[in-house]
Amino acid sequence: MTAVGIDAIEIWTGKLKLDLPNTFAPEKGEDPEKYTKGLGLNASSFPDAHEDIVTMGANAAHRLMDRKGLTPDDIGRIDVATESAFDNSKPVSTYIAGCLEQVYDGDFHHANKGERKFACVAGTQAIDDAYNWIKAGRNRGRSALVVATDTALYARGDPGEATQGAGAVAMLISEDPSVLELSTEQGYGSADETDFLKPNQQFPSVDGKRSMQVYLARMREAVEDFESVSGDTHPDDFEYIPFHTPFPGMVRKAGLLGYRHMIRDTTVEEELADEIGFQPREDEFEDREAYEEAIRDYMDKLKETDQYREWYGNTIDPTLSISREVGNWYTGSVHIARASALRHALNEGIDLTGKRLLVGSYGSGAQAEVHAETVQDGWKDEIEASNIDAQIEDRYDLSFEEYEKVHDRHNHDKTIEIEDFTVPDGEFVFTGRGRMNERMYDFVE
Ligand code: HMG
Repeated sequence: MTAVGIDAIEIWTGKLKLDLPNTFAPEKGEDPEKYTKGLGLNASSFPDAHEDIVTMGANAAHRLMDRKGLTPDDIGRIDVATESAFDNSKPVSTYIAGCLEQVYDGDFHHANKGERKFACVAGTQAIDDAYNWIKAGRNRGRSALVVATDTALYARGDPGEATQGAGAVAMLISEDPSVLELSTEQGYGSADETDFLKPNQQFPSVDGKRSMQVYLARMREAVEDFESVSGDTHPDDFEYIPFHTPFPGMVRKAGLLGYRHMIRDTTVEEELADEIGFQPREDEFEDREAYEEAIRDYMDKLKETDQYREWYGNTIDPTLSISREVGNWYTGSVHIARASALRHALNEGIDLTGKRLLVGSYGSGAQAEVHAETVQDGWKDEIEASNIDAQIEDRYDLSFEEYEKVHDRHNHDKTIEIEDFTVPDGEFVFTGRGRMNERMYDFVE
């Protein structure tokens, strides 16, 4: 069977930064530790005045194509995953292809283009579509370009304002991939939920606390569904477990639940029993409420054990380092979590070839998807080529007043002109609107 998976990854962060503990929290009259410790975030990325979902996606794709020496003829499909689209008809992938055609000989007329929507899980769904297209033998030797791009802005004053972010991840999905092979086995947890939605509005309607419960419930279903085809999971099976990361505090909760689930009926549960007892079993309780209380009690003890802390530190924490600095990128979030883990392994000299990841994607509304990935021997070269650390470092640090202007600038209901904070250099920029209200772009040398 042909191996199919991720052959290259490029990340483009919005070029502005909002410092959450030092700039945002004081204006809100909040303790900075709510951000650094509670939510687990240091900063959010924002798009500069000349940036949007098209420029960020096209810039990531351009870097990827240049680095891999690709031409438009090598790409048979361009899928964009976004929940920040500005057009209900013309997909963002056509704009991105148009940008790329400005800088490459040839064109993408032969490429199938589309747009995937299901909140944050759409990036993973677009990879899935590419995987199926290649497995079906319809790709004629070509690869698929998947771009997850979002400006994850919330209305001013919404509690979600603390978790904003903006950026894009471009991924090349190919046969015999050099970075990660995707498993055929998948699990889903999917239900009609109203936790976070944007009914023809730019900023989401959010029930924040409920959205966290729905995330955990759907993720649990997806893990169980995955196990029904792949067999039980065990904490030692996976080097890293990247989750969708709206903010690292959410993943802290998912990690603990996942660990409890994976150690059930294993020697790990037995080894821990002397210290914290066995996990409560539902049939030992008279009602659900008593059972749930016992579970909460067990989890409180579990999270303090050395075994759990070590596993979390090795398997989950390394997935959070980029997210801590950039916030929620919606469709791109799980993909920067994976990249964070690979970058951590590179920095620590860990040899990952042949090791497995378990990837947990999630989108509100709501759906979770879980699959496994096996690291291929080209992973190191790929991660070494990434300049994401420098991009994060080079962002312009906004004052609160500047942040307010930038938020207004990207608010579709306002027409605010502001000066750029950074100077475009070898990148696509937004230049204004055309006669049919289309957005227009140029490449700046
Ligand atoms: P909030 O009310 O601002 O924050 O809402 P909080 O008071 O709940 O505090 C957050 C955490 O900080 C809590 O931790 C506090 O205890 C802690 P927890 O108890 O939950 O572990 N805290 C502190 N810790 C240390 N020192 C302190 C301190 N103060 C507080 N001084 C909320 C937070 C996440 C609800 C809000 O930001 C929100 O609505 N966000 C948007 C929705 C969201 O991100 N949901 C996540 C799940 S849904 C999802 O992931 C999908 C999504 O990406 C969209 C999509 O799919 O398209 C959002």
